Amino acid sequence: MSKIPLIDLKAQYATIKFEIDAAIQRVIETTAFINGPDVQTFEQEFARYCGAAHVIGVASGTAALQLALQACGVQPGDEVITVAHTFCATAEAIVHVGARPVFVDIDPQTYTIDPDEVARAITPRTRAIVPVHLYGMPADMDAIRALAQQHGLVIIEDAAQAHGATYKGQSVGTLGHAACFSFYPGKNLGAYGDAGAVTTNDPALAQRVLALRDHGRAVRPDGKRAKYEHDQVGYGERLDTLQAAVLRVKLRHLPDWTARRQAIAQRYLELLADVPIGLPFVPVDRAPVWHLFVIRVPHRAEVQAYLAAQGIETGIHYPIPLHLQKSFANLGYRAGDLPHTEAAAQEILSLPIYPELSEEQQARVARALRAAAHELANRP
Ligand SMILES: Cc1ncc(COP(=O)(O)O)c(C=O)c1O
Repeated sequence: MSKIPLIDLKAQYATIKFEIDAAIQRVIETTAFINGPDVQTFEQEFARYCGAAHVIGVASGTAALQLALQACGVQPGDEVITVAHTFCATAEAIVHVGARPVFVDIDPQTYTIDPDEVARAITPRTRAIVPVHLYGMPADMDAIRALAQQHGLVIIEDAAQAHGATYKGQSVGTLGHAACFSFYPGKNLGAYGDAGAVTTNDPALAQRVLALRDHGRAVRPDGKRAKYEHDQVGYGERLDTLQAAVLRVKLRHLPDWTARRQAIAQRYLELLADVPIGLPFVPVDRAPVWHLFVIRVPHRAEVQAYLAAQGIETGIHYPIPLHLQKSFANLGYRAGDLPHTEAAAQEILSLPIYPELSEEQQARVARALRAAAHELANRP
């Protein structure tokens, strides 16, 4: 019985090997490893893809978050409202700029930040909101934007999992003051190492991120950055040229890959419609890009073991909410503080979804899940 992995990067590489190998070879031959032409070209291409005015390539999604927060003026003493149902980097970046993450609960249907909870959490110290478009599903941005406007807050989208997703027809990455993307290898648009980007429509904000990513270098009269002249203390968080070259190849395929993910998700919804499990919900005003296809099952450990015995790998994104992680214990949260987040963490299960997943593999996953649900339902 062949295995069905949660994600299959080898299968993807096989479909683009010649393009990728040529792109990498080109960078090596030109030795343009740092700030090479592929970086700027990728930034322009990704800007076009998102419909954003500016894209600044950086070393990871985590760096994107930290630099965006800092460039937006978030500083020690500020509070930043976000979710605990996300990857730890969302909140780590807030801590690294000296601010305090304020965790609020999610809407249990979309797993994204609940705007009513945001409204309740705003204090005079609140400086920013970081909605996370988790699993590729855009958050409820109109409600968040209304709150931000009313209270003079900054919105920084965590779009690490949502390349190309749209909210009311508008691409994520353009729905706040700045947005942060991750190109971690397993993401919908993944590099062959760490990489990320900040997008924004604000030219001054773009300039601040540009300076921060590269040691705060001064801008010379010709517009180029000075080599050994620094206006501020920055970071070494540039986007690597080799990664930019890989990303340029993959970006060309992303619209097809996204369409394929959407077709697979639709088929899962049909194949699993009558199975007693919780299926993802898609609000009419959002077009998710299905970074993950997440179901809910009460007996998760048994279902996961049943699928594993059939050679089917699944995942849990994420098993421990951030407010209950040791790393954030000093914030003083307790079990019970975020009921929807905590309930989700107990039951969520991510099924294999990637463009190369065949119809036959997907049918196998659905059959196994149906059998597992049946067996558990008939258990004495
Ligand atoms: C929601 C979310 N935010 C932030 C990150 C951090 O991105 P990176 O791993 O590229 O630093 C990730 C990805 O790992 C993520 O999934």
